[in-house]
Amino acid sequence: MKNILVTGGAGFIGSNFINYILDKRDDYFIVNLDKLTYAGNLENLIPSEGKKNYQFIRGDICNAELIDYLFNKYKIKFVINFAAESHVDRSILGSEVFFRSNVIGTNVLLEAARRYESEKFLQVSTDEVYGSLGTDGLFTETTLLHPNSPYSSSKAGADLMALSFHHTYGVPVLITRCSNNYGPYQFPEKLIPLMIINTLNDKKLPVYGDGQNVRDWIYVIDHNKALEAVFEKGKPGEVYNIGASNEMPNIKIVKLILKELGKSEGLIKYVKDRLGHDRRYAIDSSKIAKELGWKPVFEFEEALSHTIKWYVENKNWWNRIISGEYQKYYRVQYGSR
Ligand code: NAD
Ligand code: TYD
Repeated sequence: MKNILVTGGAGFIGSNFINYILDKRDDYFIVNLDKLTYAGNLENLIPSEGKKNYQFIRGDICNAELIDYLFNKYKIKFVINFAAESHVDRSILGSEVFFRSNVIGTNVLLEAARRYESEKFLQVSTDEVYGSLGTDGLFTETTLLHPNSPYSSSKAGADLMALSFHHTYGVPVLITRCSNNYGPYQFPEKLIPLMIINTLNDKKLPVYGDGQNVRDWIYVIDHNKALEAVFEKGKPGEVYNIGASNEMPNIKIVKLILKELGKSEGLIKYVKDRLGHDRRYAIDSSKIAKELGWKPVFEFEEALSHTIKWYVENKNWWNRIISGEYQKYYRVQYGSR
């Protein structure tokens, strides 16, 4: 049995990961530690609830005493760190919590991993640490880090600290840097779920700037399978890029969503651009393909259509977010629009 501390497992990617992995493996015992910030939602984990190799704990990764207690109590030997503040717009409005959770929180986990001689520490990071690309080229694992937002700089700080713990103390750290994810359970502040929900509610779709910023999209299950491959077979001290070679300008995605839901492009509203908005992300994931044999399997339009269907069929999930106690968090009003 592998006793694994998964942090941030009530968020979008972490919950998809836990549901996916517990369905597949009974040799993992997962302790899911999540603070349940606005982005954490235990409903995401209904498929895993009640499983004997799953335990949820509400708590903060910055709480060193709690982390120590959990490592001790559950004989934790493995860590997969998803926990983070994850939204660029929020980081522009206030960076402090990003540095607290993403940098200090990672440090607390790394210190425990060092003391308890963890066998693996997987730091789930992002391609945003590389900054922004021009019209051509791809991010590779050797691209210099040039994070541009408070969010991405906090993730870059955590990556560097994790690598230093490998170099200095020999903590078996693995880093993954993935491109933009989409799929079920994504909090409707991110582009795809926000646009789906606004379309369903006949609300305007706020497209930043000229809509030509490019992101490289990957379905969340493809990301999770890549994390599984890195966790199982990755080499400590290494960084692995993860992406599905699916670059797309934002406006194209917005139009695909409108088309799928049979709504008019008149809903599109171009709004003031995000401050410091990265123009283009695109990732070269040949290293993980070559070294670990991982490849994405989901085709974009099909998986987007499946995602849209999920939001159509799970109105209760997002209605509670946009109307109830989470309303104040639903969408940050950033800038004057
Ligand atoms: P999310 O915002 O949906 O979920 C984050 C989770 O972390 C939430 O459940 C939240 O409650 C929890 N959390 C936040 N601060 C915490 C703390 N101090 N202690 C304990 N729990 C805390 O984020 P996500 O989209 O699922 O992203 C997960 C990870 O993947 C992040 O580290 C993010 O940087 C990375 N990532 C995300 C994407 C993407 O497209 N969403 C792409 C690449 C990498
Ligand atoms: P987002 O989902 O916030 O992810 P990230 O900023 O981490 O890439 O945004 C994806 C892209 O969509 C990004 O270029 C900003 C843009 N965007 C909009 O045009 N309108 C919106 O309302 C949001 C949330 C994002």
